[in-house]
Amino acid sequence: MVGATGKTGGHTAELLLERGHHVRALVRRVDERSERLAGLGAEIVEGDVLGLDSLAEATKGIDALYFTYPISPGLVDATVNVAQAAEENGVQAIVNMSQISARRETASNAARQHWVAERVLDRFPVAVTHIRPTFFAQWLIDTWADGTGELRLPFADGRHAPIAESDQARVIAAILEDPAPHAGQIYPLYGPVELNHYEIAEKMSRVLGREVTYVPISLDEFRTILEKRGAAEHLIQHLLAVAIDYRNGIFAGTNDLVKTIGGADPLDVESFTALNRASFDLHTA
Ligand SMILES: NC(=O)c1ccc[n+]([C@@H]2O[C@H](COP(=O)([O-])OP(=O)(O)OC[C@H]3O[C@@H](n4cnc5c(N)ncnc54)[C@H](OP(=O)(O)O)[C@@H]3O)[C@@H](O)[C@H]2O)c1
Repeated sequence: MVGATGKTGGHTAELLLERGHHVRALVRRVDERSERLAGLGAEIVEGDVLGLDSLAEATKGIDALYFTYPISPGLVDATVNVAQAAEENGVQAIVNMSQISARRETASNAARQHWVAERVLDRFPVAVTHIRPTFFAQWLIDTWADGTGELRLPFADGRHAPIAESDQARVIAAILEDPAPHAGQIYPLYGPVELNHYEIAEKMSRVLGREVTYVPISLDEFRTILEKRGAAEHLIQHLLAVAIDYRNGIFAGTNDLVKTIGGADPLDVESFTALNRASFDLHTA
C-alpha cells in the first residue's frame, strides 16, 4: 500500500488487517503512524514511491495495491513507477486514488495530472480501478481548524455530498479483495446527501451544539488564508481552480457505490460530525 499513513490509506490498512489480510505499507519514514500500523499487524517497508527501486522491492510478492499520493508535484512520476513496479512483480490489481475533478481540460494542474495518471495506468496490463471522490468530510475538520465557528470557503452556494475517508476505505478494501469485477472502472464516490455549505453548517451546529456559520468568500481571500496556513503553490493553484469547479457543479452528485461495493451506507454530515466531535472540540479549545 502506498499512502498507508495517510487518511484513506490508514483506514484501508486497518480494515484489511481486521479482515485478516497481510498488509505491506510503504512508508517514507518510521514514525508514530507507521508504529501504530505495525502494532495492528502491518508489515512496514521504508521507501519512496518516487524511487523505482524501493517501490519495486516493496511490491515483490503482493497481489493488489492501493495507490494514493498527496496534492504535491510528482504524481505522474509516482504513477509511472507504480505501474512499472506492479508489472515487474506481477501485481494483479491497483486501486488508484484520483478525484472527481480529474479531466483533461481542467484548470487545476493537480486534477489534470490525476487524469493523465489514470490514462497512464490504463495502458499497463494490470487490473486498474480509479476512484474519483468528491471533497472528503475531513475538510470540515480542517476548515474548522481555527475554531471560530465559521466555515470561510469560496464555494458560493455550490453543493456536494461529503464522503468520509472510512467509507472510501470500505470501497477500496472491497475492490482489493475482489478486483476482477472492478477492473477498468472509474468510480465517482460521494457521501449520501448533497448539501450546500449553509446546510452543512446548520447540520454541524445542531450536532456540536454551537453556532457554525458558512461565510462564502472570494478566491482572493481564500488564497490569502491558504498562504497564511503555509500551503504550497501547487496546492493553492489546485484549490482555487477546483473552487470554481465546485461552484459550477463538478463536485455535486451522489450515488450508491459506497453501499453496493463497500457494503454499508455511508456516513452523512451529522454522523461524521458526531463521530469526530473530539476533533472539532480540540480545535475549539
Ligand atoms: N481531500 C479531499 O477532499 C480529496 C477529494 C478527492 C480526492 N482526493 C485525493 O486524495 C489524495 C490524497 O489521499 P489521502 O487524503 O488519503 O492522503 P493523505 O492523507 O494526503 O496522505 C498521503 C500519503 O502518501 C504518503 N506519501 C506522500 N509522498 C510519498 C512518497 N513520495 N512516497 C511514499 N509515500 C508518500 C504520505 O506519507 P507522509 O505523510 O509520510 O508524507 C501519506 O501516507 C489526493 O490524490 C487527492 O487528489 C482528495
